[in-house]
Amino acid sequence: MCGIIGIASNKSVTPNIIQSLKKLEYRGYDSAGIATIESGNLDEKKCPGRVEDLEKILLKRPSQGFIGIGHVRWATHGIPNQVNAHPHSSDEVSVVHNGIIENSNELKKDLEKKGYKFKSQTDTEVITFLLTDFLKDFDLVIAINKTLKALNGSFALGILFKKYNDIVVGARRGSPLAVGYGPNENYLGSDSYALKSMTKKITYLDDGDVCVLTNNKIDFYNSKNKKINKEVLILSDDKHTAEKGDYKDFMSKEISEQNITSKNCVKEYVDHLRKDINLYNFPIKPKDIQKIILIGCGTAYHSCITAKYWFEELTNIQIDIDVASEFRYRKIKFNKKNLYVFVSQSGETADTFAALDICKKNKVKTCSIVNVVESSIARSSDFVLPIHAGPEIGVASTKAFIGQLLVLYILALKISDIRKEILKPDYEKKINDLKKLPDLIKKTLNYCHNNTPIIAKDFLKAKGAMFIGRGISFPIALEGALKLKELSYLHAEGYPAGEMKHGPLALIEEGLPVVILAPRDRYFEKTISNMQEVIARGGKVILITNENSKIISENVRFTLEIPITNENLTPLLMTVPLQLLAYHVAALKNCDIDKPRNLAKSVTVE
Ligand code: AGP
Repeated sequence: MCGIIGIASNKSVTPNIIQSLKKLEYRGYDSAGIATIESGNLDEKKCPGRVEDLEKILLKRPSQGFIGIGHVRWATHGIPNQVNAHPHSSDEVSVVHNGIIENSNELKKDLEKKGYKFKSQTDTEVITFLLTDFLKDFDLVIAINKTLKALNGSFALGILFKKYNDIVVGARRGSPLAVGYGPNENYLGSDSYALKSMTKKITYLDDGDVCVLTNNKIDFYNSKNKKINKEVLILSDDKHTAEKGDYKDFMSKEISEQNITSKNCVKEYVDHLRKDINLYNFPIKPKDIQKIILIGCGTAYHSCITAKYWFEELTNIQIDIDVASEFRYRKIKFNKKNLYVFVSQSGETADTFAALDICKKNKVKTCSIVNVVESSIARSSDFVLPIHAGPEIGVASTKAFIGQLLVLYILALKISDIRKEILKPDYEKKINDLKKLPDLIKKTLNYCHNNTPIIAKDFLKAKGAMFIGRGISFPIALEGALKLKELSYLHAEGYPAGEMKHGPLALIEEGLPVVILAPRDRYFEKTISNMQEVIARGGKVILITNENSKIISENVRFTLEIPITNENLTPLLMTVPLQLLAYHVAALKNCDIDKPRNLAKSVTVE
């Protein structure tokens, strides 16, 4: 998951490259670099750290070229340092890369035999020297073609050539890449987000495509070296600005706006006048659906687990869930009567995209639930259900999770209604409850903003934490544990409460924080019994339940009471305290809230 930018212009490209790299830092921020062509030579500058560190170098030694490429890195091969930062250059070629070259070791040995001296531990450097080597005997297009043919694995490339000093070349296989059309300049980028501040006119490359940019035209070639035309799209205007405003960080903004984003999402699908849900030309007749398989990674996968409970309750359809990185390697029995649903905030997650690609190759119906409608996953699926959460910049997913849950719930409700598996009055009541949800989220946010900071202190010296729940609270426990892990680097486990006695209870010791999700649902009494088992062993219980639960237990460390709502929607309200708890623990530990260590917002490599 690295970020790539390239610009061919009639003026200095450095300012726009730097600005675009800052927008791409959500894809990786181990190191940053730029290469431009100046007076006929390649000029490369790069460093470990953030884009602002690169800017300091450029202040001392400006790059003035009109042709350039830039890169922000999330390390896959080689530690984040100066030598491993991109671009990787020879005297003739400079390359930035997102992806993984799986045969880089063999290629490196062959190139070393030819006398090439590798400086980095990266896989990318083999691309630089392959191009350099082929250019000795072949013209540009053939040299590029031979290089790409030699590579196994995935790549999105930005390339400069000393000898062809008025072009930027891009190539795509497995990792997303787009071009943008500007006034007297053209752009290459990992995704539309990096380009959208410079242009709204975008073309996405497909696997095997190569593009050649000058400042006044863009040519495209397919994998057979044939010149092709590509569709130009006009990007949508984001209703939301991806700026922090008065917030300290993006994550606090994105948590706080969940009542707004959930309202926008509900408005997009629910017709309150007709008390109905619009899914607009759904690709498969819900009556014909035999099975639905929900697939995602990380937080998106947790939304799939949660949705399984809704589909089981509201429909008679068989429901399967799977982690995308597992699904893509399973021996799947595909069935044309199945619907395969891919959940992804970024719409660029490599494992999820690969799983979708396998489904497409098997000609089954696919639907994606995404936050970025121009993303690879959205553009490759038969049908897209956007979550309308607006740009989510914080690496830890918050408002997108709420959006994913909402759209999955709305999908389950609508399918149930079409299949006549829910009574109309129930259907209409649930729709009405959706209308009230944003205000309940707001109420929960206000309540938790006041209560979670004090609770967070209990986690500072803890060895770890447990999050437990039953039924639909279990996947929310998983999500709460993931939030705490990825933000505060504290070990945390989410577990089905009923499973504690089968081993995890051994972890409970004096002072260990245990977050117990016990809304007033059908599992309430049993979960309270699990809570007593934890208290009896010294666990420090943080109980999340509904208002007026009147649980008398002097040994509960903290009780957080969330508003009472339709049982189906309680998971969304329970998520809010868990997000804020993780946020405050991370803040107390001075962790980087928006860019946690070792992570990236969009995992576009395996
Ligand atoms: C969530 O907090 C994590 N950052 C991560 O698990 C994320 O949900 C996962 O990488 C999937 O990303 P996607 O939704 O963009 O596909």
